[in-house]
Amino acid sequence: MQMHLHRQSVPQDVEENLIAGGDDPSLFPFPEGWYFVADRRSLAKGELIEKQWMGQDIVVWRDDEGAVCVARSLCPHLGSSLSPAAGGRVRDGRLVCPFHGFTYDATGACVATPYAPPPKGTRLSVFPTREILGLVFAWWGIDGRPPQWDLPEEPPAGDEWSELEVETLRFPGHPQETTENSVDLAHLRYVHGYDNVNPVGSATVDGARLVSCFDFRRRTRIAGVIDLVFDVSAATYVHGLGYSFVDIHEHTVGMETRLWVLTTPVDGTLVDLVLVSQVRMLRKPRRFIAGLGFLPVKARTGIMNRFLLSIQKQDVLQDVVIWGKKSYRPHPSLCGSDGPIGRYRRYCRQFYPHGDDGGRS
Ligand code: FES
Ligand SMILES: [Fe+2]
Repeated sequence: MQMHLHRQSVPQDVEENLIAGGDDPSLFPFPEGWYFVADRRSLAKGELIEKQWMGQDIVVWRDDEGAVCVARSLCPHLGSSLSPAAGGRVRDGRLVCPFHGFTYDATGACVATPYAPPPKGTRLSVFPTREILGLVFAWWGIDGRPPQWDLPEEPPAGDEWSELEVETLRFPGHPQETTENSVDLAHLRYVHGYDNVNPVGSATVDGARLVSCFDFRRRTRIAGVIDLVFDVSAATYVHGLGYSFVDIHEHTVGMETRLWVLTTPVDGTLVDLVLVSQVRMLRKPRRFIAGLGFLPVKARTGIMNRFLLSIQKQDVLQDVVIWGKKSYRPHPSLCGSDGPIGRYRRYCRQFYPHGDDGGRS
């Protein structure tokens, strides 16, 4: 459930606890930011998707020109749900309400009714959207305010890169906790079994962007017999708590991978964590992995992508076990090798009600 905090009426230490969880080990559920809502590839023409995010029902569709609309599933006329389950549908690229047939375009404007001119200024409540390689994101602003910062530019793709593989996991969680994983270097060894985990430089924060880089070695067993060793350099770009992008270079094979970790709050308890992975075409690998060298470049790159995504998914499932039982510690007892968790926590404050972090640390 969303709560509103008022700076004037709450002492700073109490307020800080509320924002960051405090003794009540629950974080404010919906940090401001860009959140994944849909993959354009699953948005067929005429299709209407309904989902829950931030404790609200939303609908997603695209018009005939391809513009995507993400809107609250609530008709401003007399309050009908617009969901497919209630009878909402897309006709000629426009959303038609099941109750009296008011019709909305992809900007949210009411453009027609069946029996009278549309009431002036009638609009759906829409969320600003951004698209990166067909992944559709929508902005969730504190008290509905417009975007305060943008997602990064779309990376180049084309024939040099595999298709995107997408995997969604739903579990009780919070986007601050899932994103903290990327700067919690110590857990990489103890939960995931990585070796030689070493930060590269220190994490940097620039507004809504946090960058952290680290190297590690990872052993993976295939089919219970073949041990694979990967030497990896990873650069993590966090853009708010719903969007993390990891640029991964594996040195023994010479493989380049992109991984997106996209956490969207569903209802204040559950999150959808969406993993998206993409591998650069492996034309001249430094070594071949388990017979893949016999396959054409495109086929083996696709197989590698699915394989790597399955490893990432295993990692997340290991984290889910921990997340499901842990409490949020607003003032953790950090040691010198924990990675930049303190810096990350200060970075996070900008995404909660009150805007600036006011220098609290
Ligand atoms: S409630 Fe949607 S058209 Fe009346
Ligand atoms: Fe992890």
